[in-house]
Amino acid sequence: MKICMIGAGYVGLVTGACFAEMGNDVICIEENKDKVKMLEKGNVPIYEPGLKEIIERNVKEGRLSFSYDISTGIQNSLICFITVGTPLGDDGSADLKYVLRVAGQIGDSMNDYKIIVDKSTVPVGTGEMVRETILKRLEERGLSHIEFDVVSNPEFLKEGNAVQDFMRPERVIIGTDNIRTAEIMKALYEPFVRTSNNPVLIMDIRSAELAKYASNAFLATKITFMNELSILCDKVGADIFQIREGMGTDSRIGPRFLLAGVGYGGSCFPKDIQALVKTSKNKGHTLEICEATLRANQRQKEYFAGKIVSFFKEEGLDPKEINIAIWGLTFKPKTDDVRDAPAIDIIRALLERGFNISAYDPQGMDNAKAILGNSIAYAKDHYDMLDGADALAIVTEWNMFKSPDMKRVKELMRRPVIFDGRNIYSPDEIRAMGFTYFGVGRG
Ligand SMILES: NC(=O)c1ccc[n+]([C@@H]2O[C@H](COP(=O)([O-])OP(=O)(O)OC[C@H]3O[C@@H](n4cnc5c(N)ncnc54)[C@H](O)[C@@H]3O)[C@@H](O)[C@H]2O)c1
Repeated sequence: MKICMIGAGYVGLVTGACFAEMGNDVICIEENKDKVKMLEKGNVPIYEPGLKEIIERNVKEGRLSFSYDISTGIQNSLICFITVGTPLGDDGSADLKYVLRVAGQIGDSMNDYKIIVDKSTVPVGTGEMVRETILKRLEERGLSHIEFDVVSNPEFLKEGNAVQDFMRPERVIIGTDNIRTAEIMKALYEPFVRTSNNPVLIMDIRSAELAKYASNAFLATKITFMNELSILCDKVGADIFQIREGMGTDSRIGPRFLLAGVGYGGSCFPKDIQALVKTSKNKGHTLEICEATLRANQRQKEYFAGKIVSFFKEEGLDPKEINIAIWGLTFKPKTDDVRDAPAIDIIRALLERGFNISAYDPQGMDNAKAILGNSIAYAKDHYDMLDGADALAIVTEWNMFKSPDMKRVKELMRRPVIFDGRNIYSPDEIRAMGFTYFGVGRG
């Protein structure tokens, strides 16, 4: 099938490359000319394991290309995917300006039947707004007889595992009111579910739009529940790890998303839950659990920063004399994405108190620099930065941080104090090595 992806970011690039991998002809349209130039030179503007190889192969075999010429991309494709950002607007709802601009561009360019697929995460009712925007532009061009269908196809890939997730989805959701379009979309996704037999779920557009928000809100709440409990564990001397085992072995609960830490972050959960809360508020309904999740997640980040602040306060030390080394800036491992990463809020809270911060992340340094500027020092290596450090805080659980040379870590540090925001170390083992250790909810 001939496909165009409009917006070559985390979702558009992965999705486009994976559709091409299955034999489709894909053109990724991107308005940022620097990104297009990078992609044309064989460079991938984001870090996502396995993506570069798939892009290289499909470009070489002629199934994948990049362009900023949106008209040609739309005119040469049967299916046009909208994969642009839907950031949080000033009023807490999803900002649809990018999505609706693309809808306008589609209406300005299309010359025959198209299937317009909204893959961006959008609030209920956006499908209708996209349809109206396209129709209005077609009318202005005197082409209102041209038919088109609007489909909602929310994306569930996870950064860091995006290629795998897209190639073997647990489910695909297609929101459409047209049986013929549903069949075309099913055929497009069939190779991705052939071996797994996982479902392609056909539903109405509004339910598809809401299913995405519901999933993200539920997952964020699951994490947040454990985070809340971890604070209680610290207060009563219980271990959140053991509680996780006790809960997660119940098949109704399951073990996943039960790891306590520094709070969720990233480009999706924070903005999506806020947008869902706002959608509901606009309809006069309060989503009590989601609102509590938002508050508790904010508190979790403050709680972790507060542990560091309290420790040095109790020691009677001036933050201005204290050097904190941070391992991990991205919101999770295996991505370079720092959007709404807990590390950013935690660092800002420590800076406000006067601490000196240096940070290291294997992939997220450039993106973090764009946000934090020169307010912190950026280390070239995760050991050198420990020279003279008074505490090490682990904020992202990259594999390279899981089994470091602890002897070397201890020798380099001025004070051997570890704040393990992801519970990646065994408290007993670390303490036996002579460190002062603080986990999250480890009793
Ligand atoms: N990142 C994720 O893990 C993830 C997962 C599932 C769903 N989503 C959703 O998918 C959507 C896209 O997210 P993302 O992380 O890929 O965003 P992103 O910011 O990485 O990418 C969006 C891209 O679209 C481009 N763009 C914007 N307007 C354009 C236009 N008119 N023409 C051409 N290009 C244009 C931007 O320059 C940018 O490169 C969002 O709604 C997000 O919530 C994201």
